[in-house]
Amino acid sequence: MSTDVAAETRLVLSDDQARALATKYGTPLYVIDEHHLRNRVRAYIKAFRAAHDKTELTYASKANSTLAVVAIVASEGCPIDVASEGELRAALRAGIPAKNTHLHGNAKSAQEIKAAFDLGVGQIIVDNFEEIDAVAGTKGNCPDLLLRLAPGVSPKTHAKISTGQDDTKFGFNIADGSAERALTRCLELGLPVVGFHCHVGSQLLDPEAQIGGGRALATFAAEMAKKQGFMARVLNLGGGVGIRYDDQSQAIDPRQYCLSVVQGVKEGLAGSGLDPVIVQEPGRWIIGESCVTLYSVNNVKTVPTKDGTRTYVSVDGGMADNPRPAMYGSPYPVRWISADESAPGAPMKVRIAGRHCESDTLFDDKTLPSNVKKGDVLQVLCTGAYNSSMASNYNRYPRPTTVLLRPDGSDVVVQRPETWDEMYARESVPEGLGR
Ligand code: LLP
Repeated sequence: MSTDVAAETRLVLSDDQARALATKYGTPLYVIDEHHLRNRVRAYIKAFRAAHDKTELTYASKANSTLAVVAIVASEGCPIDVASEGELRAALRAGIPAKNTHLHGNAKSAQEIKAAFDLGVGQIIVDNFEEIDAVAGTKGNCPDLLLRLAPGVSPKTHAKISTGQDDTKFGFNIADGSAERALTRCLELGLPVVGFHCHVGSQLLDPEAQIGGGRALATFAAEMAKKQGFMARVLNLGGGVGIRYDDQSQAIDPRQYCLSVVQGVKEGLAGSGLDPVIVQEPGRWIIGESCVTLYSVNNVKTVPTKDGTRTYVSVDGGMADNPRPAMYGSPYPVRWISADESAPGAPMKVRIAGRHCESDTLFDDKTLPSNVKKGDVLQVLCTGAYNSSMASNYNRYPRPTTVLLRPDGSDVVVQRPETWDEMYARESVPEGLGR
């Protein structure tokens, strides 16, 4: 199968497969490969277990909470990290027992906390002092609690997805004593705290920041064992492992990565007598490379610029189905598929533009054959994470279909686009308006 291409870790459809799927389902189209996805989960679990005997891999469903994706990942044995009541309900609808879900969020509402209690979530990751009080004041069975800590680690990644540094809205700062005060408060209230959590950032292309986060968490846990007699049973190092958004970057080997982050934790725990379960909760690494988006080219236009000309290749999707280029300047690998199987012409630099009513540059400075034309298909790799989960209806476009490629070679729609009725269902025009 196309996913087994040597040294290519990312899902890449063959030209024939991409053309056939685009014709059958229309474009834009998210295509997820189940076999690829299961292999990613299995590879990470195996690597993590090889690095340490007490580990748990949780899936951060914010990366892609399509029910079928959540169901597949959970069936491989992963608990599901949810960041809102909506993601929690998605996990439940996907058939995940509530006890296998962990609720995150830096500004949970009282309603979300109550829902977590009532629905029976397995863990709440507590972010702030107000939340400690809210949890203590909620009636019902309190789930296990982890305290989210800000470990004071600055990762090398886009500023919008850096979360481990001191200047962050997330968690209790370790350095200024907030983390210790939070633990003391929880213990005074008799709350069932079982350990600590941090998440230093996302799309990390080396383990350095997560090693630092894990070491800081473990050092803090060791200190709390000594000072407060609190024996942490869980240390959750968050997610963040990066993927290959450009053809030049190296794929991260989870075996090396896990060994490194576990080593950081062990250094911090040394001599403490603690033996916690070490948890990681990646989202992007699990689903990101298991999905591609197919677009159709709608037109090709060459325009004058001050230095010469520029060619725009406009496609039938854009920032509504993939906001990441606009938000983070993220690159993506793009493959051209001729509609009529023409051989590629000479390479040409182009700007691939989306259909939304602003510049909506999807992929700049891309090389495509000079004979690219209306009707050709573009296959964009690595769109599994933070594409469909961040998609919008901007310009009132229905969100795309998601198709799942099954291991037996069949394909099945797991998410259809909105109907027009669904698109307008939440709205009404009061009597007499504008008339
Ligand atoms: N755990 C926590 C508490 C998180 O906040 C996140 C991501 C993860 C785990 C999973 O991180 P991952 O392994 O996927 O990097 N929309 C941005 C990414 C935001 C990540 C937010 N938190 C993007 O498209 O790059």
